[in-house]
Amino acid sequence: MPEAVVKSAYARDNSGIAPKPLPGTNVPPEKRFFHLHHRLVLKEMSGRSLNQMTSRFLESQERRFANSEIGEDWTNIPDLYSWLENVVFQASVESLAGTKIFDVIPNLMNEYRDFYNAAPTILRGLPRVFSPKAYKARDTLVASLRKWHEEAQKNNPLRGFDTEGQGWDEWWGTQFVKQRKALVLAMDGMTLDGMASDDLALILTANVNAVPSAAWLIIDVMRNPSLFERVMPEVTGAFEADAEGRKSLNIVKLCNSPLLQSIYAETLRLRTSNMLPRVINTGEQPLKRWTFPKKGAVFVLGNVAAFDENVWNSGTGSEPHPLHEFWADRFLKYPDDPRSGPLRNPAPEAKKAGLDEITEDDGPRFTTSGLDGAWIPYGGGINMCPGRHFAKQELIGTFAMLVSQFDMEILTPPEVKIEPNTGFRIFGTMPPKGKIEARIRRRRAPMDR
Ligand code: HEM
Repeated sequence: MPEAVVKSAYARDNSGIAPKPLPGTNVPPEKRFFHLHHRLVLKEMSGRSLNQMTSRFLESQERRFANSEIGEDWTNIPDLYSWLENVVFQASVESLAGTKIFDVIPNLMNEYRDFYNAAPTILRGLPRVFSPKAYKARDTLVASLRKWHEEAQKNNPLRGFDTEGQGWDEWWGTQFVKQRKALVLAMDGMTLDGMASDDLALILTANVNAVPSAAWLIIDVMRNPSLFERVMPEVTGAFEADAEGRKSLNIVKLCNSPLLQSIYAETLRLRTSNMLPRVINTGEQPLKRWTFPKKGAVFVLGNVAAFDENVWNSGTGSEPHPLHEFWADRFLKYPDDPRSGPLRNPAPEAKKAGLDEITEDDGPRFTTSGLDGAWIPYGGGINMCPGRHFAKQELIGTFAMLVSQFDMEILTPPEVKIEPNTGFRIFGTMPPKGKIEARIRRRRAPMDR
């Protein structure tokens, strides 16, 4: 982001994201960018807009899978992570920002990948002279996003906030992107390069955690054949026929599956280690026994909470499920097993959630009850990730779209642990380290759906 734009546009708004400006600030209501943006993103990442975005996402994956050259014979995938990155990133960008962006920037995936790999270096604050390649990757992507903006503007001029009810179009994508641009472009001193940097921030935010999380979910399920057997009926049952007999995925139904929700929640517990920054703005003290100076910065570490032995259920002596290992059932409460569920000491919480009333016929229930402050992959409070509903549908939906069309086998031997690449810790969810070989083939008879 050009420094002049940071100073003239963003830095002037110190009023916070809440409806009520922070005490002692005096920003005119129409210049409260962070609040206005927060309000917009909450609205556009829920309800009808969310449904439209998810439908686009799934439709994009279905189309790309149908058009892919993978046939009925096994095809080797030398680097499964970058293959999955492609699958999730392209559908996510298309659902958010339209299809034309890929015509204007045909190399978008690689440019994003180069920038993603360079970002930890840039975030370390090394001057450009010491890491020219990293900065070049960022400059290239910013220049491309500027070109996309200019082409889109030429072909389908933005009508500012007048896009309400207009929905998605191929040049800009969602109403959210259009209204967000109207908001950003109205900021004092905003430039086209500033706008492009802001687009880069959005594309990174939308993918930086969702892409590796989706990949981990697939990897962890695929490496466990008995789990895969349990999951498949859930997927099959969520493909429903329309009047012409054409089946499509009912994503809401699938996302209500207790087992898939537990797998999703466990993926985020194990794989996401966000560092949540907070500033003590009002002088109130959020933690007992600690005193923080006013305007002091506090960092809440998600992985400390996610691996707290005092909180989490880690199995029994005869059936241990250590917190550093993936356990698909960790978030499931079984009616006939009082020791099940995510908590080490569940009794009082079970009552609170009404889980003590479930009967044996009901099967297991998914629950996060009692995990306040322990399961925080999306942060918390007013800052909590507004993209979380979309992210959940992306993760579970990608798995379903993939296994409904393809057989896949991960070739890393079962005894070899796939580790996260800690070089990317700064982002929250780290991708797997090294290349994971896999093989894939199109299902002969499309899955029994
Ligand atoms: C597994 C996927 C994801 C994870 C783990 C994640 C996590 C987070 C976290 C930890 C925050 C900061 C929360 C805080 O400070 O308390 C955040 C903020 C945010 N996330 Fe996500 N996120 C994910 C996916 C997404 C997606 C798919 C989108 C959009 C398409 C998105 C959009 C945002 C935005 C716009 C913010 C800033 C909100 C604001 O300050 O107004 N996220 N996310």
